[in-house]
Amino acid sequence: MKIAVLPGDGIGPEVTHEAVRVLEALGLPGLELTAAPVGGAAYKASGHPLPAETLAIAKAADAILFGAVGDPDCDGLERSLRPEQAILGLRKELGLFANLRPAKLFKGLEDASALRPEVSSAIDLLIVRELNGDVYFGEKGIRTLPDGRRQGWDMMAYAEDEVRRIAHVGFRAAIGRRNKLCSVDKANVLETSQLWRDVVIEVSADYPEVELSHMYVDNAAMQLVRNPGQFDVMVTGNLFGDILSDQASMCVGSIGLLASASLSEGTQGLYEPIHGSAPDIAGKGLANPMATVLSAAMLLRHSFGLEGEAARIEAAVARALADGARGADLGGSLGTVAIADAILERL
Ligand code: NAD
Ligand code: IPM
Ligand code: MN
Repeated sequence: MKIAVLPGDGIGPEVTHEAVRVLEALGLPGLELTAAPVGGAAYKASGHPLPAETLAIAKAADAILFGAVGDPDCDGLERSLRPEQAILGLRKELGLFANLRPAKLFKGLEDASALRPEVSSAIDLLIVRELNGDVYFGEKGIRTLPDGRRQGWDMMAYAEDEVRRIAHVGFRAAIGRRNKLCSVDKANVLETSQLWRDVVIEVSADYPEVELSHMYVDNAAMQLVRNPGQFDVMVTGNLFGDILSDQASMCVGSIGLLASASLSEGTQGLYEPIHGSAPDIAGKGLANPMATVLSAAMLLRHSFGLEGEAARIEAAVARALADGARGADLGGSLGTVAIADAILERL
């Protein structure tokens, strides 16, 4: 079990450290962890956010546990050298096109959600976010118009095969759940979205047992707050999925709870919390490590087929929360290490 551990910046190293403690506590035979610098930390050490050695370690691994990247000191750098390019580069280089971001209300957190308890308690959804295309990876630039004004531009595009493969992931995920798939787009305005919708409908012919619906992204943002219990699986593009998953996190209590798996067509996967480097709380021992611990559980499930061990970690997190183990993000007083201790005790 070769796992590359890329802690990154800000709270990344703090939360990754705790997730590694949890993984090690399972006593899995053959577990081999290799750490490597990434993001702003790598830029400061060696001049590049995704050094060749780090990429090589990631490529050679069965799975990657990723913390977070992003450093305010680096926001003025040219884009190709910014910390965020490390995670974008890994997603592209490793062909990690399918990003699974589950959101479910843990028992006991009804009062921590930004929504009323009767609304939040129904949340059990999965966002399937396309991760290799869209406006993220199109041509972009800042140019000067003939009249002298500066113009920023980013090309949004999806090719049909890119939509087809993520649609299949969405349909298959729905079959393992409640057989409902909602495709989120902006087909009333964007040609990219019209093609997206057409292709999703074509793919749906292969999955007659799945109930497919379509929703514009603005309405989806509203429905996530009004009645999130209506959603089972949501499949959407890179940009919309980024935004909706942060929103979903607050519906279940905190961005410090949402894990993710980024999968390729092969067996390799990258696992990371959906949150960033949180510079406002970095170095203070305040970050909630649960999203990263739950990402480690997804790693065991998706990259190694260790469903039992994954479920054990998830149950330990659920029990810790039910027993009131909360950090400041959930209105509690436990720090990063104490939250991980609470999980480890219950493991
Ligand atoms: P963020 O997710 O880092 O933080 C948003 C807010 O949530 C902050 O108030 C933060 O303190 C809080 N928060 C986040 N994670 C938390 C946790 N585990 N426990 C408790 N509170 C938590 O988003 P941002 O502030 O917009 O971005 C900061 C930096 O992170 C930027 O450089 C951004 O580009 C980067 N970023 C990286 C990733 C990634 O590595 N995948 C994801 C998102 C943002
Ligand atoms: C995420 C982050 C990244 C994204 C950034 C850091 C590039 O927000 O993983 O959600 O936009 O995908
Ligand atoms: Mn994001």
